[in-house]
Amino acid sequence: MNLIDGKAISAKCKAETAEEIKSITASGLRAPCLAVILVGDDPASAVYVRNKKRACEAVGITSLEYLLSADETEEKLLELIDFLNKDESVDGILVQMPVPKHIDPDKVIEAIHPDKDVDAFHAYNVGKLFTGAPRFQPCTPAGVMRLLKESNVEVSGKNCVVVGRSNIVGKPMGALLLAENGTVTICHSRTKDLASFTRNADILIAAVGKPQMITGDMVKEGSVLIDVGINRVGDKLVGDLDFDTCAEKASYITPVPGGVGPMTIAILMQNTLTSYKMRFNLD
Ligand code: GUN
Repeated sequence: MNLIDGKAISAKCKAETAEEIKSITASGLRAPCLAVILVGDDPASAVYVRNKKRACEAVGITSLEYLLSADETEEKLLELIDFLNKDESVDGILVQMPVPKHIDPDKVIEAIHPDKDVDAFHAYNVGKLFTGAPRFQPCTPAGVMRLLKESNVEVSGKNCVVVGRSNIVGKPMGALLLAENGTVTICHSRTKDLASFTRNADILIAAVGKPQMITGDMVKEGSVLIDVGINRVGDKLVGDLDFDTCAEKASYITPVPGGVGPMTIAILMQNTLTSYKMRFNLD
């Protein structure tokens, strides 16, 4: 069994982005800039936003933080997005999800200009992804693809099973695996006999958000197991995989924490650089 070290791969990925930013800005261009908006005071979201700010600092991206109170109106949020859309000094706009219940997340996502949509959540960018010409990478799924690549796991022709069908992870994950010629099955809460699918998976991606729901008896000997789940159980973080029993059968497996988690932000940094380069017609 090989443990996939997401922290090390994320560091490598961020170092590449930092290096490229350094060489571009050496010629006098301004640094790339990411605007992050957080509505409300959900503690987990606050941690994610803080980590994004730190990553920006580490790679040489200017970060703007907008912390709005939990009762801020949808109208005010949309106004702020509109302002940032028009601001030439901003390359990427990210609204941390979830937003409070009185705000429609779909309206928020569609309000962000597709050229600044570094999460790749906007329908235009989702469409680009599914037609095979993505500009921005969906952060978590692209992070998973990078983990597979760095581990020399071949996707082409493999049975790839994704458990979970969210817009943020499951669906775009399927699109990226398909683009690499995997044979993709997406399972979800209504799937009958889940284990009959997971047992056939050469590459299994668990993205459901149910602690330790996939156990060793449900996975194939020698398979590659990627755990996107981050579940708080008591004071511990656990994934969607039951790590110990799954690790006994896996050829490669990601830990939680320290697997997929650190990759999401690394890809976000990459997307912000991509957006900046598009704005300045670089490459
Ligand atoms: N909430 C959980 N994951 C994400 C993400 O990748 N982007 C945003 N904006 N919010 C999230």
